[in-house]
Amino acid sequence: SAPSHIRVLDNTYLTDDYTNLTSSISSKLSRRLHGLEGHPISTLRCIIESHFPDFTHISSLSPIVTPYQNFDSLSFPADHPGRAKTDSYYINRNAMLRTHTSAHEGTERWLLTADVYRRDEIDASHYPVFHQMEGAKIFGSDASSVENIEQESQRLERQLALSNIDIEDVPHVSETNPAQTSHDVRSSEVTAKNLKLHLNSLMYKLFADVAGTSKDDPLRVRWIEAYFPFTSPSYEVEVFFRGKWLEILGCGVVLQSTLDRAGVANKMGWAFGLGLERIAMILYSIPDIRLFWSEDPRFLSQFTHGKIDAFKPYSKYPASYRDISFWKPNHDMHENDLYDVVRDVAGDLVEDVTIIDRFTHPKTQRHSLTVRVSYRSFDRSLVNDEVNILQHRVISGLERLGVEIR
Ligand code: PHE
Repeated sequence: SAPSHIRVLDNTYLTDDYTNLTSSISSKLSRRLHGLEGHPISTLRCIIESHFPDFTHISSLSPIVTPYQNFDSLSFPADHPGRAKTDSYYINRNAMLRTHTSAHEGTERWLLTADVYRRDEIDASHYPVFHQMEGAKIFGSDASSVENIEQESQRLERQLALSNIDIEDVPHVSETNPAQTSHDVRSSEVTAKNLKLHLNSLMYKLFADVAGTSKDDPLRVRWIEAYFPFTSPSYEVEVFFRGKWLEILGCGVVLQSTLDRAGVANKMGWAFGLGLERIAMILYSIPDIRLFWSEDPRFLSQFTHGKIDAFKPYSKYPASYRDISFWKPNHDMHENDLYDVVRDVAGDLVEDVTIIDRFTHPKTQRHSLTVRVSYRSFDRSLVNDEVNILQHRVISGLERLGVEIR
């Protein structure tokens, strides 16, 4: 049966029916890639920090938070899917790994970098741990503080006018993306405009200056109306880079109830959250998200702190794949349970897990899946015996979930 306690980052916790943290995930908690000198995630953090020089830079908060911090303080509804134990890692009902940097409150100008954890599928761009940066600027909601923000925006606007940037905007506030009832429309618009200026110039810094792209073509940035439980109005930002629109971040005007709960009822402000891996993979041409976790000197020694140079792939070893077909258990089994079994057995030797066939037996109504697991190491060639052993352990792990191998 399951152990009654688990140890996570030097603390002991009681387990319960919510516990689903695997040892392959808890082994990541102490890696702190965003603090590793020279690592691409750390360099990108520093570049973004340098764009917000008068913000407090924070990067050492523990990833263990309460569901209250991660969800309730941000007005996530009780039935939000992110709360499910199939989507998030729980130590127990009262302690979980943060799923986003918004789990931490700030009350002025702050920029927080942290590892975040989400249960997800397995392929070259999905990994259960990634890094986010959360920026927020909170200021008095009185007329003179709002006026100061407007003046800062005018300065930012003049600077941005010197950049070769083409911005597709949406209205700051609209019927479908409204100001909050406790905000007057003008304060909300001033806040949104200030947010957009800060982020447009950040996009220019990253995707034009740092990326060293040609100054002939304007950088294209587009703003899209979005929805988050803890901001209104809300937006997403996309950047056109190397022929594709890339989703870069989410942001908005912070919900007043969040600030009230944090004890700053007389303030208002904006927040944004962006994922670092996605941006780093593009700027450094890193083809697989697992590489960030590599301890191979052929990876780490390529990078100089503060500089962005294209990653030079070292020889790629062959992949081996194995298929498994099984009947799903009669009780509910979420596909993320399958992915965590494979991660826990194979760690970073698993490159991809794809469901290649599904069917329902016409008579018994049982569901069958065929899953292809691809194994590949970046550091060496895997021998057949080793892959067979991994696959055997995956099968045992799946049987513990209650599946019947066909
Ligand atoms: N926390 C959101 C996410 O992870 C991003 C976000 C941050 C949105 C701040 C709005 C404001 O997707």
